[in-house]
Amino acid sequence: MNTSVQSPWELFDQWQEWNRESSMAGIMTLSTVNSSGQPSSRIVNFRGVELVGNSSGEIEEDPRILFFTNYRSRKAQDIESNPKGALLFYYPERRLQIRVEGCFEKLLPQRSDEYFASRPKLSQIGAHVSPQSERIDSREGLIARFDEYEARFQERELPRPSHWGGYGLAPRFFEFWEGKPNRLHHRRCFKKRSNGGWEQFLLGP
Ligand SMILES: Cc1cc2nc3c(=O)[nH]c(=O)nc-3n(C[C@H](O)[C@H](O)[C@H](O)COP(=O)(O)O)c2cc1C
Repeated sequence: MNTSVQSPWELFDQWQEWNRESSMAGIMTLSTVNSSGQPSSRIVNFRGVELVGNSSGEIEEDPRILFFTNYRSRKAQDIESNPKGALLFYYPERRLQIRVEGCFEKLLPQRSDEYFASRPKLSQIGAHVSPQSERIDSREGLIARFDEYEARFQERELPRPSHWGGYGLAPRFFEFWEGKPNRLHHRRCFKKRSNGGWEQFLLGP
């Protein structure tokens, strides 16, 4: 492992690159905590790392780790009441794990529009018709709604529904875990300093 890196982002990019062929490439476990302290986890697609703009039009100092979802889903409701959360990446083929903690922020609407427009039409329809995380009467009803949208928008573009878009995690903490023999695993951490930059340290395995 390269021990000279000053920023977790360098390591993060390197590990993503190394694990492009992994069975777990492109996905991550997203954990949120609701207003009564109940944690919940689920897999989402990892949509990359990006420098994003804030609502004042300025570019944030640290990049964000992106995913897209339904803004009325359980995870979105959790984030609404408590933006703190965590992401987990696991690459079994190389025995590597990355833990990331921080706060989730909604992406600017333009960024979500852009991403939505890049999705295949049938995925766009899925985003429109699915009341994600709500109770539904039947699967048949959902499919009928999908078919209706597919027919209605055959020749027309679909705009992004306001209930669907992206979030970015602004990390405050990273741990890069490498499995090693005899349980002497290597745990390398980066903690964001309040005045900028990253403090680096190791943890016992
Ligand atoms: C491989 C995989 C990829 C997924 N990607 C996403 C995703 O990018 N966005 C999303 O909202 N849900 C995704 N899901 C579904 C979520 O795991 C989850 O069921 C859904 O988001 C509802 O979660 P919630 O009720 O906690 O909000 C994915 C599931 C799997 C297994």
